[in-house]
Amino acid sequence: MEIYRTDVGKKYAMAISGVMLLGFVVFHMIGNLHVFQGAAQINTYGEGLRDLGEPLFPRTLVLWAFLRVPLAAAFAVHIHAAYTLGYTNLKARGTHYQSPRDYLVANYASRTMRWSGTIVLLFLAWHLADLTWGIKTVNSEFARGDIYNNLVFTFSRWPVVVLYLAAQIALAFHIRHGAWSLFQSIGANNPRFNKFRRTFANTFTAIIVIGFMAVPLGTVFGIIH
Ligand code: HEM
Repeated sequence: MEIYRTDVGKKYAMAISGVMLLGFVVFHMIGNLHVFQGAAQINTYGEGLRDLGEPLFPRTLVLWAFLRVPLAAAFAVHIHAAYTLGYTNLKARGTHYQSPRDYLVANYASRTMRWSGTIVLLFLAWHLADLTWGIKTVNSEFARGDIYNNLVFTFSRWPVVVLYLAAQIALAFHIRHGAWSLFQSIGANNPRFNKFRRTFANTFTAIIVIGFMAVPLGTVFGIIH
């Protein structure tokens, strides 16, 4: 807590929670692609996540203890650190930067992270209501465990397709800058390293976003039906 109270500590906390969140999006994007194998495969995959650790541990305990709770904690730390570091509207200061050029770059970056982060967060609230909690006003056909048909139904509504695609664009801006600035936070910011950083951030982002978008687009084009 002592380290977290300092700006440097918060930057580390942002980087560590950011890596956990990036790890989650990779895992989630790849998992979603099971939908292209068919209903049985994606539904069994989801069931497999809930059954992890059985029969040694009660059903869903491993999922909660090792995935959901750490993931929720990573989201909470990431948002709290962003807020208290002054990356959000209410506390935006921009006094951390030495030269006017650094200031402009940092300002562009923090503005990008602010709007994209807010959209991803709002999307997440809808997304959980839609495909995890199955709140009837959001997804009237939701059936627990039937991931395939839940996806088919949700993407049979074009405004929802637009919402998901738009959210993935916001996610692209967010993780592109996140993957780039991650190295800065851990002190690896040698200019000679920057080309690699840029290529890494762009390639990583393209793979994640194309992978996520494949599911709504696959439904629109009737591959998932
Ligand atoms: C087009 C993009 C996406 C699709 C098709 C999709 C699909 C799904 C589906 C089907 C589930 C329910 C899985 C189950 O019942 O086991 C789910 C859960 C979830 N998704 Fe997504 N997702 C997408 C993007 C995202 C993004 C960008 C994020 C985060 C930024 C995200 C975060 C989550 C979370 C936190 C859960 C709950 C996991 C749990 O049950 O513990 N998803 N998603």
